[in-house]
Amino acid sequence: MRAPSNVPAEDSGATRIHVLSDSLINRIAAGEVIERPASVVKELVENAVDAGASRVEVEVEGGGRALLRISDDGCGMGRDDALLALERHATSKIRTDDDLDAIETLGFRGEALSSIAEISRLELLTGVGSDEVGTRVVLDGGVLKDVADAPNPGGTEVRVRRLFFNTPVRLKFLRSTRTEMAHVVDVVHRIAMAHPHVSFRLDAEGRTLVDVAPAESLRRRAEGIVGRSTAAKLRDMAVEDGSLRAEGLVSEPSLHRSNNSGLYLYVNGRHVKDRTFVGAVLAAYRGVVPRGRYPVVVFFLDLPPDEVDVNVHPTKSEVRFRNGRSIWRFVSDALQSSLRGVDGATWTTPHAKALGHESEPGQSRGSDVRPFQEGVLPLASRAMDRAVPPAGSLSGWPGPGGPDPAGSPSGREVEDPLHVPARGCSGATRLTDELRERFERRTQQSGPLPSFESLSVLGQYDRTFLLCESGDELVVIDQHAAHERVLFERFRSSTLPSDAPIQRLLVPELLEIGRPRALALCDQQDLLADLGTEVALFGEDTVALHAVPAGIAASRIRGAVLDLADELVAGSVPATPERLRYDLAALLACHSAVRAHDPLSVEEIRVLLRQLDTTDFAYACPHGRPVLVRFPRSEVARWFVRD
Ligand SMILES: Nc1ncnc2c1ncn2[C@@H]1O[C@H](COP(=O)(O)OP(=O)(O)OP(=O)(O)O)[C@@H](O)[C@H]1O
Ligand SMILES: [Mg+2]
Repeated sequence: MRAPSNVPAEDSGATRIHVLSDSLINRIAAGEVIERPASVVKELVENAVDAGASRVEVEVEGGGRALLRISDDGCGMGRDDALLALERHATSKIRTDDDLDAIETLGFRGEALSSIAEISRLELLTGVGSDEVGTRVVLDGGVLKDVADAPNPGGTEVRVRRLFFNTPVRLKFLRSTRTEMAHVVDVVHRIAMAHPHVSFRLDAEGRTLVDVAPAESLRRRAEGIVGRSTAAKLRDMAVEDGSLRAEGLVSEPSLHRSNNSGLYLYVNGRHVKDRTFVGAVLAAYRGVVPRGRYPVVVFFLDLPPDEVDVNVHPTKSEVRFRNGRSIWRFVSDALQSSLRGVDGATWTTPHAKALGHESEPGQSRGSDVRPFQEGVLPLASRAMDRAVPPAGSLSGWPGPGGPDPAGSPSGREVEDPLHVPARGCSGATRLTDELRERFERRTQQSGPLPSFESLSVLGQYDRTFLLCESGDELVVIDQHAAHERVLFERFRSSTLPSDAPIQRLLVPELLEIGRPRALALCDQQDLLADLGTEVALFGEDTVALHAVPAGIAASRIRGAVLDLADELVAGSVPATPERLRYDLAALLACHSAVRAHDPLSVEEIRVLLRQLDTTDFAYACPHGRPVLVRFPRSEVARWFVRD
């Protein structure tokens, strides 16, 4: 904080080097701590927690550009402290060198409030205990504008307006309101997870995005954050080894997400983004969750403060372990032993269970196969179409393939144990014009296929590739990529809800996914409806799936919808409606398509080939992977050194 008359020292002109003005120093420092509105929320909510608050409220307008208001019922400050708090390097949390090695609070650098004040208009209202009179301090761009008595708010309230008004570059780098809000929600969730006894509420543009009451346990708090159904699939973890302690909740192998937003990792109560920690967690789940998927893990790692340096980065989200290797081993072992305890399961059995939808070698899925008619996407509908149960049983209908895979008679289930994404899709790139051209060039070289229908089917290799013959060519087709392309075209071509043939679910599927994910999904209601998928908010933190595209199993659509929710909340979805539509169509297609290792009858293969003929561009899946590869006889002959 600077006095209103603060003027930088004059440059004498005699030297090239000069000491920067306070204002510039402060602004540079602020840039390190405050990257975006969520950083302000993080710092101020952490201050509230450090002040012993039992209630923290956050209000956001305009994605944080217009207003950020954080209030608490913590210890508050008297006038002198309130003014000191706004100075750089002023803190009540450490005093001596030794204190730095034994930090027990979230803050300790004494720079958050001054940094925020430097790049915004900040109003601080605060008061101590039952005093009637509190203090109001106003700063604009770090310059003190007003100090006055004010009613005691019974704690502290900070209002931040015009964030980044004097750092235009930072302002320009801000993303959409939706993305910035996603970050704010994430920050509040991560602090709330570590403080179950504190209530947190976040309101934005008239909507409540987070509302968690004081909870008696971590599990109850986790329910409020990740949703009850997800929390039901989290196992308790408590492991101790010498001075290292691990406590938390860890996902069963059947629970996994499309991104790492489900990793809640803490060191001595502080949320961190540490490579060693993340690496150890993911290593423990390798081979347990499918490739490209991430577990949900709430992990509190406690270790002696002198074993970890938290003063590595201004945002304090990075730490340095004295002995990273032993931490890595401890984290990984703690997770493995917690999961091994589940029903005596070993590392291999949960995996096998997670992949349980796949037939065991030699096991026929013949009973799944129902006669199918063309035009209703038989490949997707068979074995999974549980949308309309047979007469006499409304819910919990064991589908043709056996009992309801979700094992949930009411259909209230979030993470589908059988939901394993089609492998090979994650990480693939979008089908760009360049890729399309490349495929087309290759096709031109060998001439177009007469038609897919004209191929003679030789069989299925590794239950993944279709071997076909066309003239003197061997044509190998990736069954998942092919079906994905077919479904993608179908989803993409429906632009109105009325275009998409849908099946209404007699018993809507309820996805209890937590408020932010539920709201984010419902924001895309219209787009989803265009693609044949009807969702509606149901209660506080649940989405009801009312209709799915005709011929596609609700369980498959549920998987796609859950992934979409994760991506929307993580802010990793494209901003424009066209890109979002493309990605959503690709996501639905990927989840709904027949998978690698699904056995297909010759008849089913033929239907798929006929569908490929009606597809606009049948040579690559929407992610840009090839659908087919052609080998002329001459090439096959060369393999065997024949003419
Ligand atoms: N909500 C609050 N309630 C009570 N006191 C507060 C509150 N917010 C800040 N303070 C006081 O103001 C001081 C300065 O806060 P500031 O966030 O700038 O620094 P810090 O929390 O000490 O360290 P850091 O920069 O690492 O966050 C704190 O040490 C604390 O004493
Ligand atoms: Mg602080």
